[in-house]
Amino acid sequence: MTTTEPNLNTAAQDTSKLGHHAIPSYLDPNDLGPYAIYLEQVERVTPYLGKLAYWVETLKRPKRILVVDVPIHLDDGTVAHFEGYRVQHNTSRGPAKGGVRYHQDVTLSEVMALSAWMTVKNAAVNLPYGGGKGGIRIDPRKYSTGELERLTRRYTTEIGLVIGPEKDIPAPDVNTNPQTMAWMMDTYSMNVGRTATGVVTGKPVALGGSLGRADATGRGVFVTGAEALKKLGIRLEGARIAIQGFGNVGEAAARIFHDHGAKIVAIQDVTGTIHSDGGIDPRTAFAHLKQSGKITGLADTDELTRDAFWDVDCDVLIPAALEKQITEANAGRIRAKLIVEGANGPTTPAADDLLAERGITIVPDVLANAGGVTVSYFEWVQDFSSFFWTEDEINKRLDRIMGEAFMSLWDVKEKHGVTLRTAAYIVACTRVLEARALRGLYP
Ligand SMILES: NC(=O)c1ccc[n+]([C@@H]2O[C@H](COP(=O)([O-])OP(=O)(O)OC[C@H]3O[C@@H](n4cnc5c(N)ncnc54)[C@H](O)[C@@H]3O)[C@@H](O)[C@H]2O)c1
Repeated sequence: MTTTEPNLNTAAQDTSKLGHHAIPSYLDPNDLGPYAIYLEQVERVTPYLGKLAYWVETLKRPKRILVVDVPIHLDDGTVAHFEGYRVQHNTSRGPAKGGVRYHQDVTLSEVMALSAWMTVKNAAVNLPYGGGKGGIRIDPRKYSTGELERLTRRYTTEIGLVIGPEKDIPAPDVNTNPQTMAWMMDTYSMNVGRTATGVVTGKPVALGGSLGRADATGRGVFVTGAEALKKLGIRLEGARIAIQGFGNVGEAAARIFHDHGAKIVAIQDVTGTIHSDGGIDPRTAFAHLKQSGKITGLADTDELTRDAFWDVDCDVLIPAALEKQITEANAGRIRAKLIVEGANGPTTPAADDLLAERGITIVPDVLANAGGVTVSYFEWVQDFSSFFWTEDEINKRLDRIMGEAFMSLWDVKEKHGVTLRTAAYIVACTRVLEARALRGLYP
């Protein structure tokens, strides 16, 4: 076909030439992993894409995948090898953008899914980025600071082929932090022979980081959660909140909700689960976690089993840990009226359906946790102009972007009678595919 006009009459085509293998050869067809969740979400949005559905295969395939070997000297002098990834899912609307995760269970499917969710998230809040994500298969708790620094520097050099301030901009994710970003920035800068602050975001403020970045994801969870509570007619003051994950996202979300009068009734992290009907002060809980290394044992709280967390009586549930936490197995037990997804991909599609049937509203990850990448965008813009804004300016801009994104997606949800997740996918996928259609296919 030489014309750039879409040929929507697929019946007339020789489909054997389309090259659409439903599943790429590099995924296990018997266990597709988290990417299966994303593919199902794309299936659900396709009927709403109109003529743009012509381009929908673009969304199902990452643009570029880099798998790297990361060898390092351990402190005892031996050499260890780790598997690292950087996936650029889509760059139709701008450079790839997304975090780097260090976790022993990282897989290619997981990084693919996380990169695709970044494409959707950046488009849902209208940031000028595509989607990317990276990861290393390692349990960082077992390694010294020196070993982690060497790991980060070697990984950065290996993926240096594809990252850059105008190409792909990493940021922190699970088990990575501002120090990790400082090492990445320094390594990339050494390799290119100039200080390139804009290559990563989530850096320390002293190195071109942005004020407000540390709390930004949790703040966005709060802003969108508070708007959703208003829509549901539930008062923020006194609202009972259960949080899974008490790291960058969960701790900040808990603290900001608490500061606005909500009551944190349960916290679960990798070390255990605590509960108190009277409410938990997140600052005291965080100090206790730092001091003792675990969340359990905090004064005036009971310890729950890991599974009992899902039965906690609450108004709002905030998953802020990992994917696939809310499944068919526990979705029927959840007592919250609202779920605000701080984590990426915490709810499986089957659980999504069950919760929708039960009338439980979900503010989806691609909206709820977009505050982090929004302030990362501010950081990147500030680095380019070498002109830095005040924390107040940043928070005001963040609140406005998150609040407006929530309102416009809520309107789409009402208009089509769909969930907020599908509404977010309608808006985001339309933006990505419009860009795809306007740019056309190279060559
Ligand atoms: N950091 C960001 O800016 C950002 C932005 C958007 C989305 N997210 C997503 O938010 C989630 C959390 O990221 P983070 O940056 O807060 O990571 P983090 O490493 O700071 O914290 C992770 C938290 O999850 C807990 N956790 C891990 N495994 C668990 C388990 N099996 N059960 C219960 N709790 C468990 C850990 O104990 C920790 O409290 C991830 O899904 C991440 O992709 C993060």
